Amino acid sequence: MFASAKSITQVVLSLALLPLAAHAASIKRAATTCNGHSELCDRSYGNITFVGAHDSYAVSSTSLAANQDYNVTQQLKDGIRMLQMQTHNQSGTIQLCHTSCDLFNGGTLENYLQSVKSWMDNNTDDVVSLLIVNSYDNFPPSAYDTVFKSVGLDTLAYSPPSANLTESEWPTLGSMINNGTRLVVFLTTQADYEAIPYLIDEFTNIWETAYDVTTTTFNCDVNRTNGNPNEQMYLINHFLDSSIAGILYPDKSAASQTNGVNGTGSLGQQVATCASEYDRNPNFMLVDFYEYGNGSVFEVAATANGVTYSPTSPIATPITGSGGSSSSSGAWGGYQITGAHFAAMMAMSMGMLLGALTVV
Ligand SMILES: *[C@@H]1O[C@H](CO)[C@@H](O)[C@H](O)[C@H]1NC(C)=O
Ligand SMILES: *[C@@H]1O[C@H](CO)[C@@H](O)[C@H](O)[C@H]1NC(C)=O
Ligand SMILES: *[C@@H]1O[C@H](CO)[C@@H](O)[C@H](O)[C@H]1NC(C)=O
Ligand SMILES: *[C@@H]1O[C@H](CO)[C@@H](O)[C@H](O)[C@H]1NC(C)=O
Ligand SMILES: *[C@@H]1O[C@H](CO)[C@@H](O)[C@H](O)[C@H]1NC(C)=O
Ligand SMILES: *[C@@H]1O[C@H](CO)[C@@H](O)[C@H](O)[C@H]1NC(C)=O
Ligand SMILES: *[C@@H]1O[C@H](CO)[C@@H](O)[C@H](O)[C@H]1NC(C)=O
Ligand SMILES: *[C@@H]1O[C@H](CO)[C@@H](O)[C@H](O)[C@H]1NC(C)=O
Ligand SMILES: *[C@@H]1O[C@H](CO)[C@@H](O)[C@H](O)[C@H]1NC(C)=O
Repeated sequence: MFASAKSITQVVLSLALLPLAAHAASIKRAATTCNGHSELCDRSYGNITFVGAHDSYAVSSTSLAANQDYNVTQQLKDGIRMLQMQTHNQSGTIQLCHTSCDLFNGGTLENYLQSVKSWMDNNTDDVVSLLIVNSYDNFPPSAYDTVFKSVGLDTLAYSPPSANLTESEWPTLGSMINNGTRLVVFLTTQADYEAIPYLIDEFTNIWETAYDVTTTTFNCDVNRTNGNPNEQMYLINHFLDSSIAGILYPDKSAASQTNGVNGTGSLGQQVATCASEYDRNPNFMLVDFYEYGNGSVFEVAATANGVTYSPTSPIATPITGSGGSSSSSGAWGGYQITGAHFAAMMAMSMGMLLGALTVV
C-alpha cells in the first residue's frame, strides 16, 4: 500500500514536472513569504505599512547631524523597508550628505546602493523602497540611472504602468517579488516617467505629514503633495527634533518614547490618529534611531498590517552618544561636537540654512 502510493506519487510528480521543465524559462517563481509574512503576498504595495529610516545614510552615534546609529545593512536586517536619503553634488559625484557635505558626508550614492544590492541579493522575498531627496542639487534622472546601472539595481527596480498610481493601483508584493522587480524608487524632484520610468515622482504618488516637528503633537495634516491626497499613499514623518539657536537636531533622548507603540508622542499614537482621520494606515513611517524602543517601530507596523510581530533575530541595541550627560564639557544633549562640526554649524546658522538641518 505504502510503496505503491509512493510510486504513484512519483509518476504523477514526474508527469507534472515534464511541462514545467519544458517551459522553465517562462515560469516565474511564486513567493510564499513576502516581507516576512505570507499574508502580505496578496496585498497591494499600496496597502502595506512600511518602516522607513529617515536620513538612512547619516550614521554616527556622536555627530549632531546623524539620524541613525546603524548602517543600511543592519537597518535592512532589522526590518527597515524604506530608505530615505539626501543627495548632494560633490564635484559631479552624487554624494549622500546631510544639509551640507561639510556638516555630514555619508559617502557616495554608489557605495550606499552597493550595500542595498548585496542585501537584496541575499533576501529575495523582500520589497524595499528608496526615497531620494533630490531637491538640494536637482540631479537629472539620467544621473541616477547611470549609478543604478553601475550597481545593477536598475533591473531590480519596478516601473509602474503610468507616472501616477492611486494607492489601490499598486501591484501586490507577491507579483513584484515574482517578477524580480522589488525595488521601488521615489525621487522628490526631476522624475521623468517618459525617460526613466522606474524613477517615480514622489509627490504625485505620496503625500507627507509635516517634518521638522519639535513638539510631541505629531498631527496627520497633509503637508506636502502634488496630487489628490484622498487617493495617494501617504508618509508620516515621525521623528522629533530639538532646537538650539534655531538649529534643529534629532532629540535622541526622547527616541524610545517617540518610537514607542503607545503613549505621548509615540509612533503608535500618531498611527492611531491618522488611521482615525483617513480610515487607513500610513504607508510609510520615517523614524530616527529606529532601534530605540527595542523593535517597537516594527511592532507598530505589524499591528497596522494585521500580522504577528515576531522578529527572527534580536533588533540592534541602542548606541548612546559617548557624550553622556548634556552638562559634560564638549557635549550637547549627549552629542560630541568637534571643532570642525561646530564651525560648519555656525556657518550654516549664519547662512540661509537656518533651521534646515532636518529638511526631508
Ligand atoms: C554595517 O554594520 C554592521 C554591524 O551592525 C557591520 O558588521 C558591517 O561591517 C557594517 N557594514 C559596512 C559596510 O560598514
Ligand atoms: C555638479 O557639479 C559639477 C561641477 O562640480 C557640474 O559640472 C555639474 O553640472 C553639477 N551637476 C548638477 C546636476 O548640478
Ligand atoms: C549575505 O548572506 C551571507 C550568508 O548568510 C552573510 O554572511 C552575509 O553577511 C550577507 N550579506 C548581506 C549584505 O546581508
Ligand atoms: C509582471 O510581469 C508580467 C508579464 O511581464 C506583467 O504583465 C505584470 O504587469 C508584471 N507585474 C508587476 C507587478 O511588475
Ligand atoms: C509643512 O511643514 C513645514 C515644516 O514643519 C511647515 O513649516 C509648513 O508650514 C507646513 N506647510 C503646510 C502647508 O502645512
Ligand atoms: C501625474 O500627476 C500630476 C499632478 O497631478 C499631473 O500633472 C500629471 O499630468 C500626471 N501624470 C500622468 C502621466 O498622469
Ligand atoms: C503600552 O505599551 C507597552 C509596551 O508594549 C505595554 O506594556 C502597555 O501595556 C501598553 N499600554 C497600553 C495602555 O496599551
Ligand atoms: C489596508 O487595508 C485595510 C483594510 O481596508 C485597512 O484597514 C488598512 O488601513 C490598509 N492599510 C494601508 C497602509 O493602506
Ligand atoms: C526586546 O524585544 C524582544 C522581542 O520582542 C523581546 O524578546 C525582548 O525581551 C525585548 N528586550 C527587552 C530588553 O525589552
